[in-house]
Amino acid sequence: MEKRELLYEGKAKKIYRTDNESILWVSYKDDATAFNGEKKAQLEGKARLNNEITSLIFKHLEAEGLETHFVERLSETDQLVRKVDIVPLEVVVRNQVAGSMAKRLGLEEGLKLARPVVEFYYKDDALGDPLITEDHIAILAAATPEEVDQLKLMARKVNEHLQKLFATIDIKLIDFKLEFGRTESGELLLADEISPDTCRLWDMETNERFDKDLFRRNLGNLQAGYQEILTRLGGPTCTK
Ligand code: C5P
Repeated sequence: MEKRELLYEGKAKKIYRTDNESILWVSYKDDATAFNGEKKAQLEGKARLNNEITSLIFKHLEAEGLETHFVERLSETDQLVRKVDIVPLEVVVRNQVAGSMAKRLGLEEGLKLARPVVEFYYKDDALGDPLITEDHIAILAAATPEEVDQLKLMARKVNEHLQKLFATIDIKLIDFKLEFGRTESGELLLADEISPDTCRLWDMETNERFDKDLFRRNLGNLQAGYQEILTRLGGPTCTK
């Protein structure tokens, strides 16, 4: 596969065209951002960790029969994915209260939810990715009501598979964010990444954090936390 011109540069990844119309080349970056870009840092090794973890998780989901955009891991920091039209919604699933839900509702972090909560955020940097309702999604034409139902179903299914996977490595999946894309035929496909950048992952026994809150809240070394997740998933340590 040949890497062609840069199509898009996001906060954590660069997306390139390839010689295949329907395949994109994703290159992870060491850049870390939080609070809608207000806090920034270069964290060496983060690109490798997120690429390796996302590759392992997407491969696991595919093996379990869930379709994703993932095609192939190319190197420590790069992967190939199917080209999709990204739905402008962040789909957040929560099993325990943390982060913005704790703040918004005045609930204690760690509180177990009776059933998983699914939330939609509108992907718009200028607006700060606001939490939106299904009526808002319709007004914004971000997705059809049928797609919203499908997104909720798919998000809950991914949650079931991820909770089981993380339980096998003694990790509690507190919450996570998913993104979906539409294929040319209009089918919804799980896209973007699933990594400690997009999930809250706490140790089953000690509640130690192995996710981006290490960076957001200055709780410790981000790379060490992400490497712990990769190692527990059976992935490689750094070869350099
Ligand atoms: O900040 P909040 O508590 O709403 O985040 C919920 C989950 O979604 C967390 O796991 C967080 O890492 C993830 N998230 C994300 N990208 C965003 C917002 C949240 O990956 N833009």
